Amino acid sequence: MNVSVVVGLQWGDEGKGKIIDYMSEDYEAAVRFNGGSNAGHTVTVNGKRVVFHLIPSAALRGKKLYIGPGVTIDPVQLIKEYNELGNVQLKVDPRATVVTPFDIWLDRKLEEMRGSAIGTTGRGIGTSFAGRMFRFSPRVCDIASGIVPDYGPMFTAFNYNPSEMKKWEEDSTLYLREHMADVPWELMQIYEKGGKILFESAQGTLLDPLYGTYPYVTSSNTIAPYVSIGAGFPFNRVDDIIGVMKAYQTRVGSGPFPTELSGSLADLIRQNGAEFGSTTGRPRRVGWLDLVSVKYATRLNQVNRIVVTKLDALSGLENLRVATRYNYQGKSSSDFTRSLYDKPEPEYVELDPIPDADWASISKRGYDSLPAQAKRLVELVEQELKVDVWLVSVGQERGMTVVA
Ligand code: IMP
Ligand code: MG
Repeated sequence: MNVSVVVGLQWGDEGKGKIIDYMSEDYEAAVRFNGGSNAGHTVTVNGKRVVFHLIPSAALRGKKLYIGPGVTIDPVQLIKEYNELGNVQLKVDPRATVVTPFDIWLDRKLEEMRGSAIGTTGRGIGTSFAGRMFRFSPRVCDIASGIVPDYGPMFTAFNYNPSEMKKWEEDSTLYLREHMADVPWELMQIYEKGGKILFESAQGTLLDPLYGTYPYVTSSNTIAPYVSIGAGFPFNRVDDIIGVMKAYQTRVGSGPFPTELSGSLADLIRQNGAEFGSTTGRPRRVGWLDLVSVKYATRLNQVNRIVVTKLDALSGLENLRVATRYNYQGKSSSDFTRSLYDKPEPEYVELDPIPDADWASISKRGYDSLPAQAKRLVELVEQELKVDVWLVSVGQERGMTVVA
């Protein structure tokens, strides 16, 4: 298979970064096509942890890296990340939207002004994508050619002090000029020569602004078909869609979460799984695996192989549950969409808890050496989703990945 898309099947933070790094060895190019620096994709190699916000997570493998027009780019963050990585082969589409300091300021301001905050990452994502629709956000090519829109009247209306804007413009221009390229065209060149391309979605399906738990969502589409919009790559050439899901649920920010846990059990899973936001450092909300929503996400994305991550983080708990259905007003249902307007009560399957284990040595010995209880969870996932689990991840390190 030559063209793969990796998507998240939950509320982001499924471990996509690790999987992209693992897979990208076999690919020529890796591409971001949505989101912005709200993403935090973590890769750990030989104890060294790198968090990618904008640059594709294949960077440590020396691959060709692309950022498509569907991404909103904060040049300050991009330059910082690029400098930290050293020489990577990065190209950015001139049509991509740029996040300005004003967008970041306004994102935070709007959160304060809302009755109930969304809990955004405060990275100016929603405001810059909205600015794109309003047609005043600058694009990469605008910054590169020195054409920044006149925000003057708006700054006045919002009572914003634009002192940081000038320096920002100067720093951004030079860098963006050096890295611009027609991303859809370059991708098609690679494809036509038989090269393999890996697309990396940011966030997760349940944060998609149309299909997720609106308004508690992000502001660009997160599902696989967005590749054709966000990277200008024809979706009918995509032949592989990989859904990444954690063995439990997490969510940063507000919004519905039917299987959410609280108290000491939540604390334990949060600690085991190091569930603190890689972009914001916020403790993540945690809960039992919710296969009703994961199944919905699997279907929407037409996933053909599944990766289950962080099985290790569930080991040593006293009990283990997985929601396989929702109950609405006394009636059992597999319908996720209804939960947007009726309150669901999750119906759980009780599994035998996964014992403590030496996950490093298990990952060397392969799938058969996994504790039987962990394999049972994987089987349940396959049974409910009707898609094969291809990989399981049992630790942060690149090597702690097992083919199922
Ligand atoms: P925004 O994308 O910063 O506007 O935030 C909107 C919602 O999406 C908030 O609940 C964020 O916590 C969440 N979010 C955005 N990006 C990510 C991500 O990469 N992982 C997990 N949650 C995210
Ligand atoms: Mg993340």
